[in-house]
Amino acid sequence: SKLIVDVGSRRPIPNTFFGAFFEEINHAGTGGLWAELVNNKGFEARGSSVPSNIYPWTIIGEDRSSIIVSTDSSSCFERNKIALRMDILCQRQSCQPGGVGISNPGFWGMNIEQGKKYKIVFYVRSLGPIDLQVSFVGSNDGVKLASTNIKASRLKVAKWSRMETIIEANATNHNSSLQITTSNRGVVWLDQVSAMPLDTYKGHGFRSDLFQMVANLKPKFFRFPGGCFVEGNYLKNAFRWKDIVGPWEERPGHFNDVWGYWTDDGFGFFEGLQLSEDLGAFPVWVFNNGISHNDQVNTTAISPFVQEALDGIEFARGSPTSQWGSLRASMGHPEPFDLRFVGVGNEDCGKYNYLGNYLKFYEAIKRTYPDIQIISNCDGSDQPLNHPADLYDFHIYANSKDMFSKYTKFDNAPRSGPKAFVSEYAVQKEDAGAGSLLAAVAEAAFLIGLEKNSDIVQMVAYAPLFLNTNDRRWIPDAIVFNSYQNYGTPSYWLQQLFIDSSGAILLNSTLHNSSSSIVASAIEYKNSQDGKNYLKVKVVNFGNTIENIGISIHGLNSSVQPFGSSMTVLTSPNIMDENSFSKPNKIVPQGTSLENASKDMNVGLLPYSITSFDLLI
Ligand code: AHR
Repeated sequence: SKLIVDVGSRRPIPNTFFGAFFEEINHAGTGGLWAELVNNKGFEARGSSVPSNIYPWTIIGEDRSSIIVSTDSSSCFERNKIALRMDILCQRQSCQPGGVGISNPGFWGMNIEQGKKYKIVFYVRSLGPIDLQVSFVGSNDGVKLASTNIKASRLKVAKWSRMETIIEANATNHNSSLQITTSNRGVVWLDQVSAMPLDTYKGHGFRSDLFQMVANLKPKFFRFPGGCFVEGNYLKNAFRWKDIVGPWEERPGHFNDVWGYWTDDGFGFFEGLQLSEDLGAFPVWVFNNGISHNDQVNTTAISPFVQEALDGIEFARGSPTSQWGSLRASMGHPEPFDLRFVGVGNEDCGKYNYLGNYLKFYEAIKRTYPDIQIISNCDGSDQPLNHPADLYDFHIYANSKDMFSKYTKFDNAPRSGPKAFVSEYAVQKEDAGAGSLLAAVAEAAFLIGLEKNSDIVQMVAYAPLFLNTNDRRWIPDAIVFNSYQNYGTPSYWLQQLFIDSSGAILLNSTLHNSSSSIVASAIEYKNSQDGKNYLKVKVVNFGNTIENIGISIHGLNSSVQPFGSSMTVLTSPNIMDENSFSKPNKIVPQGTSLENASKDMNVGLLPYSITSFDLLI
């Protein structure tokens, strides 16, 4: 095979080409990127048919007959009225050593690390003085890792009172619990119990290792918060931003009925915008358009939802003196967020009220915010849309063979009208494993097809981003984690080979006499680290034999600099190979310097591989 790259034939790739899509799925945020350690901190957790319950809190103490735990609606927080009540029946002398109380295991164990500091906040009320011991304890061995005493007079806690303390761990246990115990006879109410590590990214609440994994992808946009999460199985459980902003203590939380868990909504609308900013990415806010999986608001009654979307945009980018912008300012961000993209619903095209509702949102948003780019759920890749839009969503989940074959998907897509936003793609079906090499190689070919069609494809993101390994609801995903570890699947690592594409120049490249398993593209980009110009030629071999290929660079005035050029390969001996906690780097891009780099090169491509040639020019 021969690949001819013509440096004289050039076209810019959109600055927003390559991004990330975050959804509250697989405990991605709750018990994941959002670093809150306490699970069900407000004692409100419930499901669609389950009344509020204190799970996973448990009662502790050697003498359980000394404590009665119940809930009532006496909280000081209007939107989440449930509080925990502890009736402690033993006296200091009669209580068993250690007292009695409650324990929270977090999300499958809290990661408590020696030398790290944790901020604990809770609200308490009592009929008498309180003397509480707050501790992190190893769930498996009972060893105390950190502890403090909180005492207050009867007067101070007669009404709800906020307690805050910072404790430092003197040992490490990745499977710990938070315990609150007492040996004081009396009645104590607790609510909104939070424990956060102090070392979150910029103190913004994002678990730092998971933040870094996303940041390393250099996403230029950040689509959030879903996905089906935005829709809900029922509208009553959909993501409605006004319930998910303001002080965390006041957020009611909600049941994520699509993905089957309670979220106390610490990671809300503000946090999605903040995270986008921290990543240097444009936020892409997807809002509910009055449609869930099972119920819909009729277009004649959609105006409250339209107003809610307008208010949400004002929250994000209105002046700090505006009604909703002032709420944002009160949360610590007086400057507007750079919100330029909104998605009207998720995967709702074709539903009875979609088009009618969509047009109401479109007209109202364009009237007030003409610069905002509006994303329709209707796929415009085969024929032009019958309604106005700036972008259209395109989602694809397929087996690896189908995904590979889709590298031509946008070759014949309409060139006028809205641009394509490939807002979810992944090899997902039978041969994906839990994130196999094969899946990544097929996705690489698809991405190369998108890059070559980036005159019409403006944005692309893999889905889903995160998997907490204890809630394996949707597999595969890009980043897998538990309480303290993480790794990228091959689908994560292949994306690293595309991070230079945003804002780069696409060069014309053509394959001659090529095997049908080869797909290639070429770009010119400036390396942000050394500030130098490179050609990047990416070639996928989706076949089971080595392919020899000649690469010829035409139209280049300068020469290729052998020293400084490199070759990076992502492959593995077996197509179903995966990364894991024990072998996180089994399949990662392997780089070597290319000392024989030139305008004419012959190279061998390994079976089932993607190879990137970065040629210094
Ligand atoms: O990415 C997982 C799910 O796939 C998303 O929630 C939805 O948009 C799609 O069906």
